[in-house]
Amino acid sequence: MKIDLKQVKIEAEKDISGASDQQKLRQIEKKYLGKKGMLAEVFVGLKHFPAPKRKEQAQAANQVKKTIASLIENKAKQFGKKPKSDLQKVDLTRPGQKIETGHLHLITQTQKEVTDIFKSMGFGVVEGPQVESDWYNFDALNFPKNHPARDMQDTFWLKRSSVAKQKLLLRTHTSPMQVRYMEKHKPPFKIVVPGRVFRNEATDASHEAQFYQLEGLMVDKNISAANFKAVIEEFLTRYFQTDVEIRLRPGFFPFVEPGFEIDAKRKGGDWLELMGAGMVHPNVFKAAGIATQSVAGGRSDAGWTGFAFGVGIERLAMVKHKIPDLRSFYQSDLRFLKQF
Ligand code: PHE
Repeated sequence: MKIDLKQVKIEAEKDISGASDQQKLRQIEKKYLGKKGMLAEVFVGLKHFPAPKRKEQAQAANQVKKTIASLIENKAKQFGKKPKSDLQKVDLTRPGQKIETGHLHLITQTQKEVTDIFKSMGFGVVEGPQVESDWYNFDALNFPKNHPARDMQDTFWLKRSSVAKQKLLLRTHTSPMQVRYMEKHKPPFKIVVPGRVFRNEATDASHEAQFYQLEGLMVDKNISAANFKAVIEEFLTRYFQTDVEIRLRPGFFPFVEPGFEIDAKRKGGDWLELMGAGMVHPNVFKAAGIATQSVAGGRSDAGWTGFAFGVGIERLAMVKHKIPDLRSFYQSDLRFLKQF
C-alpha cells in the first residue's frame, strides 16, 4: 500500500494538537512512530519506489518522522511532564540496597572449627562412607552378634541387593572408620573423622534421625587415658574459649575398654552428654590386623595402644551457643540460621 507522506503529516499534526492528555499522546506516538506505526510502514514501502526516487522518498519520510517527534515532545511539555528516559527515572543518589549473601550452616562452621583445632594438634582428617557394612559398623567393632549393644543404636538397614554381598546399613556412628583406617595405615597416627550418621529413632529436643559426629583415634606406643584427657581438655578449652565444666563417667561401648562418657556444662546450662570415649579394645586392633602384644625379640610393630572418642558436632554447637533444641539445625528456619 502506498502511503501519502503529506497526508500522514497533516493527520499527525491534527492528532497531536487534539491530544487531551499524556496517555492519548503516547497512543498517537505509537500510531505514527511505533514499531508498527505508519512511518515504519512508509519505510517498508520504500522498496516499491524506483531506485532514483527511493532516496528522495526516504529523506522526506525521515523529515516527517522528525517533525512528528518534535511536535509530540512539545505537546508533552504542555502536560507538565517531560518524557523521561529509563535512566533518568533511577535516583542515583539513593543509598544502595545491600544484597544479602548466604553463609555456611552452623553445622558446617562447627565441623570446620573443630577439625581445624585438631589439625593444629597434628591430627589428620579423613572421611568414610555413609553406607556401611554390618562388619565395619558392628562386628569389627566388637559388637557380638545378637548382643543387646546393637540395639543401643537403632539402625537403618538397607534392602539386600544382589550387588552387595554383605548386609548394608546407614552408619550409626563414625567409629567404623577406626577399623577402615587401621587396615590401611600403620601406627603411629592420630586422625579425626567428621561425618554424618543415622539412627532410626524418634526425634525430640535431643534426638535426630541424622546428625554429625567427629571420631578421634590416636594410636602409638604407650598411649594411655592420660593422653586422651590431655588432648580432649586442650580441644574443649580451645573450642569453648570460656569456662566449661567437664565430667567423666564410666560408659560402655563394645569397642573400648575402659570406656567413658564425657558431659559438659556451661554456666547456667544443663549437663549435656558430649561424647563417648575410651581405650581402643584389643579386639578392634585384631579386626584391623594390628598387633597389640610385644612379640619376644622386640618386633617394632607390636605393642600399640590407643584411645578413641566420638563427639556430636551439633552437641558441641548446642553447648557453645546455648541452643536448646537439636531439631533447630534441620528446620531451615532462617531466623535461626542467620544468628550464626
Ligand atoms: N561411636 C560411639 C557413639 O556413637 C561414640 C564413641 C566413639 C565411643 C569412640 C567410644 C569411642 O555413641
